[in-house]
Amino acid sequence: MGSAVLGLLSSMYAGSAAAAMPDKTKLDTAIGQACVKCHADESPGIVGEWKKSRHNMNDKKRVVDCYDCHKAKEGEKWAYKHEKHDGKDIFITTIPTPKNCASCHPDEVAQQQPSHHAKAGQILGSLDNIMGEVIGGPAAVNAGCRQCHGGDVVLDHRGKPTPETWPNTGIGRGNPDGSLGSCSACHGRHRFSSAQARTPDTCGKCHLGPDHPQMEVYNESKHGIMYRAHVDEMNLKSKKWVAGVDYTAAPTCATCHMSATRKQKTTHDVGERISWTLRPPISQKLNMVRLDNGSEYDVPEGSPIPKVGEVDSSPKGKGAKVKEVLTWEDRRGKMKNVCYACHGSDQVKGHYKQFDDVVNLYNDKFAKPIAAAMKDLVAQGYITAAPFDDKIEWTWWEIWHHEGRRARHGASMMGPDYTWWHGIYEVAQHTYFKWIPEMKEAVRKKDGDEKAAQAILEKHFKPIAGHDWYFNGISKDSIEKTRAAFEERYGKGSLK
Ligand code: HEC
Ligand code: HEC
Ligand code: HEC
Ligand code: HEC
Ligand code: HEC
Ligand code: HEC
Ligand code: HEC
Ligand code: HEC
Repeated sequence: MGSAVLGLLSSMYAGSAAAAMPDKTKLDTAIGQACVKCHADESPGIVGEWKKSRHNMNDKKRVVDCYDCHKAKEGEKWAYKHEKHDGKDIFITTIPTPKNCASCHPDEVAQQQPSHHAKAGQILGSLDNIMGEVIGGPAAVNAGCRQCHGGDVVLDHRGKPTPETWPNTGIGRGNPDGSLGSCSACHGRHRFSSAQARTPDTCGKCHLGPDHPQMEVYNESKHGIMYRAHVDEMNLKSKKWVAGVDYTAAPTCATCHMSATRKQKTTHDVGERISWTLRPPISQKLNMVRLDNGSEYDVPEGSPIPKVGEVDSSPKGKGAKVKEVLTWEDRRGKMKNVCYACHGSDQVKGHYKQFDDVVNLYNDKFAKPIAAAMKDLVAQGYITAAPFDDKIEWTWWEIWHHEGRRARHGASMMGPDYTWWHGIYEVAQHTYFKWIPEMKEAVRKKDGDEKAAQAILEKHFKPIAGHDWYFNGISKDSIEKTRAAFEERYGKGSLK
């Protein structure tokens, strides 16, 4: 999927003005009114929510009705006949897509389409997907993974979505018209409210749990505490919602990742303000390249970045022109600009120092040596190259995918319990007392002794100062240092 469609969409959206409201005095609203009338009876819940939405403002010139979003043309794959009007068949679609919204909201859609959110359905090649499909089973993938990531919607012979593939409001859903994502992933239908999308619970449908506990981290952070204590002062229903102007009590997920500041507009590209990726086994800082065909991609720190104006002939560039480059520093600068609405620069600098230090600790002390040792184990024939058929592969997977992510996520958003107890504590415990013993076991099973395991440890772990204690025990020296520091603080004999 992807690029061809993106190109098409972006040329469609390019140049169109923001939220152009149809002038109802010039439009025939009779069809839409008939939908409302009959559905008020048929599905009062839907009509009730629509009535309270901005799409149904009382000003008759400013009504967006059912037909504005659900209309379809006869012959389109997703169009089916639904009722008659003035003797003529009316064709509609069940699922209005971002492409439908784009006719009135071109900017939001142009930002959302190239984002990681829109691409979140493209997980078929991932290790997680092998786990879901093979080790779990397809039913769990449909009602699990795809309800967060989005799956491809398949249509039946009538043009209606099949029950296996819809309902689905996954963030990167593949729509029959080629557009990506679902706007109701965040804007619950049919209220389509900004106020609701600004609440942390909106993001918490997906951003929670053992492998990405952003919601739990936020809840335990000072920001989450302040939000709950002062939610009545958050002014969530304000039309514009500028941090430090319309509210000061606390930031929500949207504040930091999407909403406006005095110097920045809102963005529906949630990756714009982040500098690291904390998801893979080893974290990297990412620069972003935006192309004039509406697509964008990340380039890891250290790899060459094309220049603005250049033709990008890399596989991801596909010959499009580079429109904008955001280095990881630029992206971080955008996030810091949010913080400055409520904090001074020392607080913000200090936060990033503590955060970067945890990511580097995780990367350098644990992730890099384990990843290198895992390669050696495969190369030397102690484990197979297939994923998940050796116990040690599960252990490493949980170290980076669960515990290591939790540490990184905790540190990025001020959740100390996740940084340590659910994070680095478990990474360390499982490295020393699960992963290393399992490695020795794998080697012993083949060789009858542990020599090769020791060699692998000495090669990848020994050079790292943080592992000294493992090879040499906790030295007298370091116990003495700790005792001296303790006694200086708490008096002689205080360290038992
Ligand atoms: C005379 C009554 C009537 C009118 C007018 C009407 N509908 Fe419906 N609509 C229904 C009924 C009954 C159902 C549920 C039965 C079904 O699934 O066909 C339904 C179902 C739907 C569905 C869901 C289909 C599904 O398979 O779940 C959508 C979407 C829909 N209507 C939209 C519209 C739109 C948009 C209009 C205006 C163009 C409209 N309706 C006009 C009666 C009506
Ligand atoms: C602003 C655009 C918009 C308007 C206006 C709108 N809808 Fe929808 N409707 C959607 C979207 C988006 C979906 C969800 C598709 C998805 O992402 O799964 C949807 C889904 C539906 C569904 C199927 C889901 C369900 O809960 O059964 C029905 C039925 C429906 N709409 C009826 C209506 C009716 C009736 C009206 C008018 C009162 C209306 N819609 C107005 C955008 C709109
Ligand atoms: C026919 C034009 C039109 C279509 C189609 C349309 N909208 Fe809107 N939308 C508007 C207008 C106009 C407003 C109100 C803007 C204002 O108040 O300034 C609005 C407002 C919104 C808001 C802000 C609501 C709030 O509480 O602040 C959201 C969110 C939104 N639309 C989402 C959508 C989504 C999602 C779709 C597609 C499923 C969609 N719209 C389709 C015209 C449209
Ligand atoms: C509760 C919602 C949810 C479920 C269920 C879920 N995921 Fe995720 N997944 C997420 C979120 C949110 C992220 C992004 C986390 C982050 O950025 O820290 C993610 C990240 C990923 C990534 C990393 C993407 C990248 O760009 O690095 C892959 C791959 C993935 N998930 C695959 C799966 C598979 C396969 C399943 C089912 C076996 C699954 N997920 C189940 C919400 C979910
Ligand atoms: C990840 C969650 C998320 C998704 C997905 C999402 N939105 Fe939004 N949207 C928000 C948030 C949060 C706001 C409020 C921003 C702010 O603070 O003003 C918003 C605001 C809006 C507004 C109001 C803008 C204004 O200036 O008043 C429109 C229109 C809108 N979204 C349209 C869309 C459309 C169309 C889609 C699908 C392509 C979409 N959104 C998908 C979270 C989302
Ligand atoms: C005070 C601002 C702030 C708030 C509030 C906040 N975040 Fe973040 N978030 C950050 C920062 C800072 C980072 C790390 C940025 C970087 O990499 O430079 C981050 C990173 C992330 C990432 C990237 C993780 C990865 O695996 O790469 C996700 C996803 C995320 N946040 C989601 C959320 C969600 C969901 C919420 C609400 C439950 C939330 N954030 C609340 C500031 C915030
Ligand atoms: C329906 C599920 C869902 C919802 C709701 C959702 N997200 Fe996500 N989000 C994901 C998934 C899945 C990913 C991982 C995408 C990937 O990399 O493939 C993700 C990734 C992200 C990222 C990382 C982007 C990047 O470029 O690396 C951020 C930041 C983020 N989400 C913030 C938010 C915020 C803020 C909200 C609420 C306003 C939110 N998300 C709502 C599922 C969701
Ligand atoms: C809308 C205002 C607002 C924004 C925006 C905001 N914060 Fe905060 N922040 C607060 C408030 C209020 C507190 C609680 C004050 C306290 O610690 O007593 C707080 C506390 C903190 C703390 C102290 C945590 C603790 O446990 O003591 C840190 C660190 C912090 N913020 C960093 C950031 C960073 C970094 C950003 C930007 C990514 C940011 N904040 C954005 C309002 C905000």
